[in-house]
Amino acid sequence: MNQLRDYDIIVWGASGFTGKLVAEYLFKKYGSNKNLKWAIAGRNSLKLNSVRKDILDSTVPLILADSNDSQSLNEMVKKTKVICTTVGPYAKYGSKLVAACVENKTHYCDLAGEVQWIRKMIDQYHKEAKNNNTKIVNSCGFDSIPSDMGVYYIQKQTRASKNQRAKLIEMRVAGAKGGISGGTYESLSKVNEEANKDKEIFKVVINPYGLNPIGEQDGLDRSDLRKIIYDKSSNSWIGPFMMAAINTKIVRRSNALSNYSYGKDFMYNEATLSGKGILGKIKGYFLAIPVFLLMSAKPGSILKKFIDFILPKPGEGPNKKDREAGFYNLRFYITLEDGSKAFAKVIGDMDPGYGSTAKMLAESAVCLAKDELPDSSGVLTPSTAMGDALLDRLEKNAGLSFNFNNK
Ligand SMILES: NC(=O)c1ccc[n+]([C@@H]2O[C@H](COP(=O)([O-])OP(=O)(O)OC[C@H]3O[C@@H](n4cnc5c(N)ncnc54)[C@H](OP(=O)(O)O)[C@@H]3O)[C@@H](O)[C@H]2O)c1
Repeated sequence: MNQLRDYDIIVWGASGFTGKLVAEYLFKKYGSNKNLKWAIAGRNSLKLNSVRKDILDSTVPLILADSNDSQSLNEMVKKTKVICTTVGPYAKYGSKLVAACVENKTHYCDLAGEVQWIRKMIDQYHKEAKNNNTKIVNSCGFDSIPSDMGVYYIQKQTRASKNQRAKLIEMRVAGAKGGISGGTYESLSKVNEEANKDKEIFKVVINPYGLNPIGEQDGLDRSDLRKIIYDKSSNSWIGPFMMAAINTKIVRRSNALSNYSYGKDFMYNEATLSGKGILGKIKGYFLAIPVFLLMSAKPGSILKKFIDFILPKPGEGPNKKDREAGFYNLRFYITLEDGSKAFAKVIGDMDPGYGSTAKMLAESAVCLAKDELPDSSGVLTPSTAMGDALLDRLEKNAGLSFNFNNK
């Protein structure tokens, strides 16, 4: 990467709900124009100026770039070592930016949870990004850092303590509190819309190995859970977890990109814990209602229009008080190669989707700009792009804790 660039990081989308949180975090944590050189960017100078006025100060530089204008994107990416983008839905606005980053050897991180679009970026740019020693890193928010870095961390721990791989990891969401933004809802709708229109996209979305390299899309894992069942590993009722659709595929891509360091027979799944006994079962159905509604709301249907009406619009999301009162608690039930069991936890200190996500994305960008990183390039996952350096930042700065218990 060219070291002689004006900035370490440009945050593109800083006028949006999540982009503002990322900029606010960078400003509070790293100041402006000190050790970290960074700028904010977007398509609307009035909005960007008011972001500067409200939460930053006039020393933070401002850059204009529109997703429809490749020249503005090229000029922007040439100025920085890393682009950190919250301009979504990525399937709508993101492709030209990835092209510009790959061409100009600028590292990139985003919050994409849109499986169909990540697949497209892999097919179009993985080889070229690899040749250009450029890291294009998707899913650096709640989807999929806690899952991807959680599994990476567990594999390190089992190797160090037992000299074994974790052969099966079952992630269970034990608790989470937060809300949804208009941008995230629009992105979820975009996945449903494209998968409904195009059979090939639908196949990618439902394939458990849909983000693996072509020719390596099989393994022991099956589709994500879509019903309420009793789970022996956690001794509890479990139901679907909305983000499993992206997280599990990112974890499996990490395994493939790391030359199957978790093993060719590695298995991974995710679900939501709802508790024991009849109450746990009832709670399981209750928790699954929003997931089923969102998944079954066909484009143009009355249900979809109703959900559009009640959920936040682009630019809106949970307020500061709710973000700060939020949290998440993820449990990982582990089976090692010799059949013995272990347990791990990943805990986050703010609401998953925004408070915590903004810190994870910002720290990923700083990590790409400043840290010593694994020798990997291409369209990557957080763990394969940043490994231990990111783990360290998440624990020190982003409010995540990782714990492992050998039992
Ligand atoms: N993975 C996760 O855990 C996670 C968590 C949170 C969010 N997300 C994702 O992050 C993305 C952003 O969410 P959000 O709630 O922050 O959305 P948002 O508030 O709607 O913000 C979208 C941003 O994109 C900008 N934009 C729109 N069209 C543009 C164009 N043509 N050129 C340049 N910029 C353009 C908007 O600029 P204007 O202000 O000028 O309109 C705004 O800054 C979504 O895809 C969402 O799914 C993921």
